[in-house]
Amino acid sequence: MSVVLKERDGGVCVLTLNRPDKLNALNVEMLATLELALVELDNDSTVRCVVLTGAGEKAFVAGADIATMQDMTSMQAKSFSDMGHRVCARLERAHYPVIGAVNGFALGGGCELALACDFLYASEKAKFGQPEVNLGVIPGFGGTQRLSRRVGEARARELCFTGDVIDAGEALRVGLVNRVLPAGELLAAAKATAAKICTKGPLAVGQAKRTILRGADVPLDIANELEAQAFATLFDTEDQREGMRAFLDKRSADFKGT
Ligand code: COA
Repeated sequence: MSVVLKERDGGVCVLTLNRPDKLNALNVEMLATLELALVELDNDSTVRCVVLTGAGEKAFVAGADIATMQDMTSMQAKSFSDMGHRVCARLERAHYPVIGAVNGFALGGGCELALACDFLYASEKAKFGQPEVNLGVIPGFGGTQRLSRRVGEARARELCFTGDVIDAGEALRVGLVNRVLPAGELLAAAKATAAKICTKGPLAVGQAKRTILRGADVPLDIANELEAQAFATLFDTEDQREGMRAFLDKRSADFKGT
């Protein structure tokens, strides 16, 4: 059984991190398998949305694998961190949105993987945290950066310095997750939103994703220029003509992604 399961339904692909006996902790095999799956999805223009979740009842991902990291040299730790960063960057820069369906613990590398998703739905059982300081280290897959950007620097500092774990309700309150659902409804809700996204213009959704991401770290005037360029680019597409024609014809648009 693969450590990353892939299930396709039309334009939606559900990726399930599958190492439940170790609470889906991220070892090299899992990161490499996930990276490969994301490379394949990147090369498939028919993928419109991905849902990322964890196998089992307890965890999304309980962190980077502590057994793997225990005896690492500094050089090995750098290469492990680079690998985690690569996977997170692939999620973040994918041409399709990624919805994280956080079904349980999202700790350490699990919280970092969740933060690389476009947005998160969480089960009532979900728990989030960056507990690396308990192990004498810090987040290594982008947590110190993406957590600040998502929930603000002061909250990120508190979580990274104390290693505290917050529940789904608190995660909702601080804007880390968009929705909290009963465990049994989580995946269906994420899939329903993914299916809705599939009906929209995929090039437009991709440009919205890119523009929000790239605009977040540059001054507002440059970010707005990026938006204007992306907006203009879409007027070279068949999808723009189809979308506007369909509105005026009072019918649903049939977007082809061209
Ligand atoms: N790395 C490696 N193995 C892990 C792991 C991790 N990050 N998180 C859990 N596991 C393993 C446990 O070692 C255990 O394996 P075993 O059955 O072979 O002993 C198994 O997963 C189940 O975990 P367990 O600790 O027994 O479950 P629990 O319900 O008592 O506790 C947690 C759940 C999440 C609170 C606890 O597993 C934990 O604190 N994990 C580490 C979290 C962490 O520090 N993450 C950041 C890493 S940088």
